[in-house]
Amino acid sequence: MKACFIGAGNMASALIGGLVAGGARPADLCAVDIDAGQRDRLAARHGVATHESPEAALAGADCVVLAVKPQQLPAVAASLAPGIGGRLVVTIAAGVRIGDLSRWLGGHRRIVRAMPNTPALIRQGISGLYAAAEVGGEDRELATRILGAVGEVLWVEHESMIDAVTAVSGSGPAYVFLCIEALEEAAIASGFPAGQARALAVSTFAGAGALAAAESEPPAVLRARVTSRGGTTERGVAALEAGGLRVAMREAVAAALRRAVELGDESGRAA
Ligand SMILES: NC(=O)c1ccc[n+]([C@@H]2O[C@H](COP(=O)([O-])OP(=O)(O)OC[C@H]3O[C@@H](n4cnc5c(N)ncnc54)[C@H](OP(=O)(O)O)[C@@H]3O)[C@@H](O)[C@H]2O)c1
Repeated sequence: MKACFIGAGNMASALIGGLVAGGARPADLCAVDIDAGQRDRLAARHGVATHESPEAALAGADCVVLAVKPQQLPAVAASLAPGIGGRLVVTIAAGVRIGDLSRWLGGHRRIVRAMPNTPALIRQGISGLYAAAEVGGEDRELATRILGAVGEVLWVEHESMIDAVTAVSGSGPAYVFLCIEALEEAAIASGFPAGQARALAVSTFAGAGALAAAESEPPAVLRARVTSRGGTTERGVAALEAGGLRVAMREAVAAALRRAVELGDESGRAA
């Protein structure tokens, strides 16, 4: 696999780092970025070739990964269109629909749309992927390999579900950070100094998350296991339920989903 990344920022660096750690040869990867500092950082960190413009970079690539900001994508795609040929294009730009990207790429249809999340930066992400009808099995495997380098991969059948992935796992890390903040504040209110409160809150979320991932039982069963009748956890969980945690989470995802659809509509009007 020879892949060329357009945009050498955070996500491109995470994906390239994951691919190299997984055995990809740096010589088979390259990146294009208009920012010389980004190019230098990426080359120093991962030993890949970098370029200021895509012409030379595209020549040897089977696959192009679009890792620029969504608002930069119309211009980037238009500049790639003449040289894109039959290459697989994987886009990770949030909210940009395949139909719009295809139009900016001059009708190119071999496109996979992916939605990663920030834990990808430490290779513990999860990405939703959707392929246009024209994308075959080998291309799906290639996209799975690229996003799989930074965490789990989940294919969805309808492109609209990428908006739902955005609302759940794309925005999800912020929901979790908010919960960590809330537990930290509660720890401070219970008398812990700030450093200890942070450690208690962060380690509790990290440990419980790792345990939930390691166990085959659903989280509800794990919760029941630590909730003895008449005990402290039972009281605490009851307070969270009474406070509307589940309703708030459902509303958070619904609100994020509505915004994802709006952003898709807005970016579609961009060019
Ligand atoms: N970070 C996440 O967790 C996450 C999650 C899901 C999806 N995404 C998506 O991933 C994409 C990349 O995010 P990021 O955080 O990696 O962004 P980033 O760090 O800003 O990286 C994008 C890079 O592309 C460069 N660039 C801009 N125009 C270019 C052009 N014409 N040709 C080549 N390079 C160009 C930018 O340079 P300048 O800075 O000079 O503009 C920047 O260095 C975004 O579309 C975002 O929606 C990110």
